[in-house]
Amino acid sequence: MRSMIPDYLTEALGDVEPDTSGEQAAYIPELAAADPDRLGAVFATVDGKVYGAGDTDTEFTIQSISKPFTYALALGDRGFDPVLAKVGVEPSGEAFNEISLESETGRPRNPMINAGAITAHSLAGPADMDPAERVERVVHGLSAFAGRRLGMDDAVCASEMEHAHRNLAIAHMLRSHGILTEDARAVVEGYTRQCSVLVTARDLAMMAATLANRGVNPLSGEQVIREPVVRQVLSVMATCGMYDAAGDWATQVGIPAKSGVAGGLIGALPGQIGIATFSPRLDPHGNSVRGVSLFERFSSDMGLHVMEVPAAARAVVRSNHVVGSGPDALRVFQLQGGIGFAAVERVVRETVDTAPAEARVALDLTMVHSLDDVARRMLLEIVRRLTLDGHEVYLVDPESIIPDPDPGDGGRVTVVGRLDQARTA
Ligand code: DON
Repeated sequence: MRSMIPDYLTEALGDVEPDTSGEQAAYIPELAAADPDRLGAVFATVDGKVYGAGDTDTEFTIQSISKPFTYALALGDRGFDPVLAKVGVEPSGEAFNEISLESETGRPRNPMINAGAITAHSLAGPADMDPAERVERVVHGLSAFAGRRLGMDDAVCASEMEHAHRNLAIAHMLRSHGILTEDARAVVEGYTRQCSVLVTARDLAMMAATLANRGVNPLSGEQVIREPVVRQVLSVMATCGMYDAAGDWATQVGIPAKSGVAGGLIGALPGQIGIATFSPRLDPHGNSVRGVSLFERFSSDMGLHVMEVPAAARAVVRSNHVVGSGPDALRVFQLQGGIGFAAVERVVRETVDTAPAEARVALDLTMVHSLDDVARRMLLEIVRRLTLDGHEVYLVDPESIIPDPDPGDGGRVTVVGRLDQARTA
């Protein structure tokens, strides 16, 4: 059988193709000259499978999509406090190139608008790096997210630098507030080089998938950034990634995202996939017109909105029944799926409401595929409380999903690989 996912992507591209509204970014002459009809879309799963259609391997400049990744590098290289002291996390609701800073501190409101991104560039790598080394630090970091060494478009970079008056004005303001401590022009040059890194939609999907995969590149296996940094970056993408269209995006699409003026658009859906689209015509916010339409469609067709309520919690207790009779009777709570707080709360409620009359109780984890830390601790607390209530407790855990279970003070548990071992124990 052939996978239906590339067919779906091809169909989605066909549907948006007739829409030729919007304009290429005119303030960078090299971008204005690019082919406006390019169109591509790629999905990359957290285990490294890539599906694409259209222009998946055409190179274009990353532009503002570099911002969340450079912010991640700054957080990793300098730590949270030094970065937060210089760049806030409040959505500004302003255009990407707005010349605005917090009035008291001179701090840019967030790392997705240019003021914050220029500052984040200056914070990548150690403080004593020279500008060229810092650019190399950033390109090396972006390449680790993509899983291959990325090149640079020097012509686009030169073209933008010739017209970078606005970013230079922002950088000089940042310097006057002591937010930038280095030469303002050198930082803008470095930031513009960062924006001129060449990527394909395939690269961008893999970069997004690295964020979706807790900071681990799905193909290379490299832990590019730590999990607390991933959470910070995805949060800022969710609230600020689409600038003054952030509210519309949050309600219509609901995927942490970032756009770039060369026409790229990424979305990272935690634990699921990285998505990238490429289409150069932009709406007035600077976001790809056809990219936004594609994301709206992907989100609604596949239920990808992060606020979509998962059904799993309702079904976590697959069955609650008794096997055997008399003193051998065993109450079995058979659990299933991925278990987090909401799901384990159902298990707590089920065990409390059932108040097992049987002396022997089994929690069967055979069909549980994942368990987060709070779920593990709460399940062990269920075991402890059942023991204190006088029950003999069994954990059916063939894949050691809870390795070395320790129910703590007064708790006792027997681990078995199959339910029938608990029945005959
Ligand atoms: O700072 C700039 O103007 C650009 N090099 C990047 C802007 C950008 O991609 C905005 N996003 N849509």
